[in-house]
Amino acid sequence: MTLPAPPCRAEPPGPASTAAVITGLGGCLPPTKITNGQLVREGLDTSDEWIRTRTGIRTRHRAGPGVSTADLAVAAGRAALHSANRTHTGIVLVATTTPDRLCPATGPEVATRLGLTGTPAFDLSAVCSGFLYAANVASALLTSGAFDSALVIGAETYSTIIDPRDRNTAVIFGDGAGAVCLERGSAADPGAFLRFDLGSDGARSDLIAIADGGSRSPHRGEPPPADRFFRMRGPEVYKQAVLRMTSSARTVLALAEWPLPAVEAFIGHQANQRILDAVAQRLRVPPERCHGNLRHVGNTAAASIPLAMADAAARHVVEPGARTLLTAFGGGLTWASAAMTWPAAATTYLLPERRPPQGDHHE
Ligand code: UT7
Repeated sequence: MTLPAPPCRAEPPGPASTAAVITGLGGCLPPTKITNGQLVREGLDTSDEWIRTRTGIRTRHRAGPGVSTADLAVAAGRAALHSANRTHTGIVLVATTTPDRLCPATGPEVATRLGLTGTPAFDLSAVCSGFLYAANVASALLTSGAFDSALVIGAETYSTIIDPRDRNTAVIFGDGAGAVCLERGSAADPGAFLRFDLGSDGARSDLIAIADGGSRSPHRGEPPPADRFFRMRGPEVYKQAVLRMTSSARTVLALAEWPLPAVEAFIGHQANQRILDAVAQRLRVPPERCHGNLRHVGNTAAASIPLAMADAAARHVVEPGARTLLTAFGGGLTWASAAMTWPAAATTYLLPERRPPQGDHHE
């Protein structure tokens, strides 16, 4: 019997190597902001003090009736194209857990509404790690020569899948979309993705799940309300998030051959400030190098990393070219990290774009 070859660990890319480079950054946050106090007034059994001290979150955005994930994705995608000064891209990837419909994917509609009909477009589902999974896929498509540019969008409307009476989830999740334009460039360019680490563990899929509506439990009549909503076993997810983000971050730093003090900017999945602090502490990244927008937007799942990047770029808190570590964790379980240099692109934000009327088409 022939044993499989060990995984190939290539040398970290030298400055002349080809790399996917971020040339545009965009974001979309629906205008309705929900404060902690408002959640209490809506009848949730919680308090502003509990949410602030246990999660660090003060507000989150809510898309509201009639506004879908595609509406946010189109706005973020348009913003990123504007930031990159582009009207076209080679391929569109939409990372989301909350697609507009189970079928078809959200990507083709997003591409068409961006004026990109004909461009390949698809969705990718890795829950809160979705953006970094999609960035790795796009990066590989660019460095392989298959495409020379890509638009990668993370977009979510968790307000459509959260049980408003579930204080375990209702306090932390928010709606939003973030996007990046990627172009084939060199590893020496600011904004270059240098290394990725991805992983998953399906044995723990019960920790974060929506029970109903998939092929294992197809809609048959009216499901029990609890099965229709997103459920999370908070404390266990908390422990896994700290463990997985820390180890994945260490792996990607080893692949990039960056010693820990080399990290000049750190953005982790914006899930809970206590998780982010625990990961940063284990990685020995000092607080002044940690960036995020958790307190204003909460946990926006697949949109979290690109929205946090868009926010940091808009505030000019990281120098272009700075060695940057990104790490995320989500349902699946999935985890993902990237070593990259900070882009030179400026952030554009746009408001959600409602879908134009569809005429006589039947869906
Ligand atoms: O994005 C994908 C990854 N997701 C995450 O990374 C989220 C990970 N999990 C978390 O962030 C946290 O587990 C939560 C924020 C969801 C919960 O915080 P926790 O510190 O783990 O709280 P807990 O569930 O251990 O509950 C501690 C106490 C309990 O009360 P007793 O039994 O000590 O009296 C809960 O009933 O806090 C209570 N509690 C709340 N009280 C007020 C739990 N949630 C709330 C709440 N408001 N929202």
